[in-house]
Amino acid sequence: MTDQKPSWYILGAGAMGCLWAAYWRLSDFPITLITPTPRSSSFLELARRTSTNREETQRIKIRTITLEELAQSSLRIDHLLVATKAQHTRDAITKIKGNIAPQATVLILQNGMGSKELPQLLPSQYLVTAITTDGAYRTDKLSVVHAGKGHTHIGADPHFLNLLPSDYLELSSCTNIDFRQWEKLTLNCAINGLTVIHHCKNGDLLKIPQARKQLAAVCQEIATIADALGLSFVVNGLIEQVENTLKNTSDNYSSMYQDINNGRTTEIDYINGYLVAEANKLGISCPVNQAIINDIKQRERMAK
Ligand SMILES: NC(=O)c1ccc[n+]([C@@H]2O[C@H](COP(=O)([O-])OP(=O)(O)OC[C@H]3O[C@@H](n4cnc5c(N)ncnc54)[C@H](OP(=O)(O)O)[C@@H]3O)[C@@H](O)[C@H]2O)c1
Repeated sequence: MTDQKPSWYILGAGAMGCLWAAYWRLSDFPITLITPTPRSSSFLELARRTSTNREETQRIKIRTITLEELAQSSLRIDHLLVATKAQHTRDAITKIKGNIAPQATVLILQNGMGSKELPQLLPSQYLVTAITTDGAYRTDKLSVVHAGKGHTHIGADPHFLNLLPSDYLELSSCTNIDFRQWEKLTLNCAINGLTVIHHCKNGDLLKIPQARKQLAAVCQEIATIADALGLSFVVNGLIEQVENTLKNTSDNYSSMYQDINNGRTTEIDYINGYLVAEANKLGISCPVNQAIINDIKQRERMAK
């Protein structure tokens, strides 16, 4: 049975990469986690709530390989999941490009619009975008907590789902992945930067009067840009969508908040940065989004 399952490599052994790796192993799919540096264990720890609402931690055996070992080997990748942060993807893929088969299937699981750069890097491969509302975080390099159960839209026809286990993750195929990508992008543009600026959990943005004003202003600007780009359907009721997201994820720290707090670079160029670049092409200025970008960039510089 296992022989018929595709062998997936996972680039980006972070929260999402480890989460998918863990569930794929539980479904008996052969997977290999590609790590930037060697890992001290060959077990992943997955903490989650089961279908019967019990909290459970499982140790799951996995195979890992470092980027360097892979690049120096003659291993050929036919199925690759990319779960790096957008700003690291180009560098990571470039290192192992020689191992990725020309006709490989590459599934990109990311926020932001980094996937738009990938056709240049992988011109002959079959690229599929996935957008998820699952939430996960790592407690160490090989321990992951599935913090919020969500849904993943896969931008391919339904046959594609046969390549993926679906016992634990909720997946559906979707013909309008651009819409889903823009929908997530606009929410991330409105929320992530402000959680950094106000140094708070998602839900706190609704409690801080200054943050509420900024949320209204950024949503207004996003709606204007989306309108000009012919995407007004994406931002119908954006402020309500943002408020609902903040309520549903009130105890979460955004990934941008976590990145800044841990002295890492953020995905800002692929979130607000992408939106502003698209707006600028049409001659639209975006002072609110630009101010958020400037603030985050300054914090990234200070953390170096
Ligand atoms: N976490 C969530 O709840 C969530 C939800 C929805 C969407 N997303 C999106 O999913 C994507 C992945 O997020 P994440 O939270 O999983 O990020 P993450 O925890 O920061 O994981 C990124 C992984 O990439 C690795 N990496 C960095 N540079 C690399 C390189 N040059 N080569 C190979 N690997 C490299 C990191 O290595 P180290 O192990 O050394 O740090 C880390 O393991 C992002 O686009 C994010 O916005 C995340």
